[in-house]
Amino acid sequence: MDPVKIFPSILAADFARLGDEVANVAAVVDGLHIDVMDGHFVPNITMGFPIIESLRAVTDLYFDCHMMTTNPDVFVNDLAKAGGQLMSVHIEVFPNPRHVAASARETGLDFGLVISPPTPIEALEPYVGLCSQVLVMTVNPGFGGQSFMADMMAKVERLRALVDREGLDVQIQVDGGITVDTASEARDAGADVLVAGTAVFRQADPVGAVAALRAAARP
Ligand code: DX5
Ligand code: ZN
Repeated sequence: MDPVKIFPSILAADFARLGDEVANVAAVVDGLHIDVMDGHFVPNITMGFPIIESLRAVTDLYFDCHMMTTNPDVFVNDLAKAGGQLMSVHIEVFPNPRHVAASARETGLDFGLVISPPTPIEALEPYVGLCSQVLVMTVNPGFGGQSFMADMMAKVERLRALVDREGLDVQIQVDGGITVDTASEARDAGADVLVAGTAVFRQADPVGAVAALRAAARP
């Protein structure tokens, strides 16, 4: 397996100092996880294109945009224009995601699928080949700072086996409750990319916190 990738989730950052928070960790992370919520798919509202566009002007980091919205397909062009690079949509929103995958790809976006804790992995498995990345949620989407659901590792293991068996170029990402205590479990199950909000931006030393996550995730 390649070295683990760490994508901090800016949901846990101080939004009044967002540019500085991102600049502080930029050299030590592999991408930025951006949680877009609409108050319909999840019971919370976070951020949208103006913030993505402002951040794009100050960093070259890869923008992994996790769309917790009911109609992300309407916004593929807006996301690409704002500087997003990967659009992840929930399989619960698109039980058949072929159309949204195609339109994301047409705009030049990478495409990803996300699965929430209650949804069986069988819903997503037929579509892994459409993706640059598959995201296994280890908390119920909507809020940072929740506890890691270890029983989701069975999904990660199944996806790891499928990706390896079929030789697919698909990253497996885990999001929710990643800390120095849970990173190794996610990694051992087969995750390539760890998303961490609280464990990075809510720490006194975010740069050191990223290093600690990498060390914890090392096999
Ligand atoms: C939750 C979001 C996560 C969240 C993770 O709906 O998708 O990306 O920011 O936050 P932590 O790492 O604090 O669990
Ligand atoms: Zn997320």
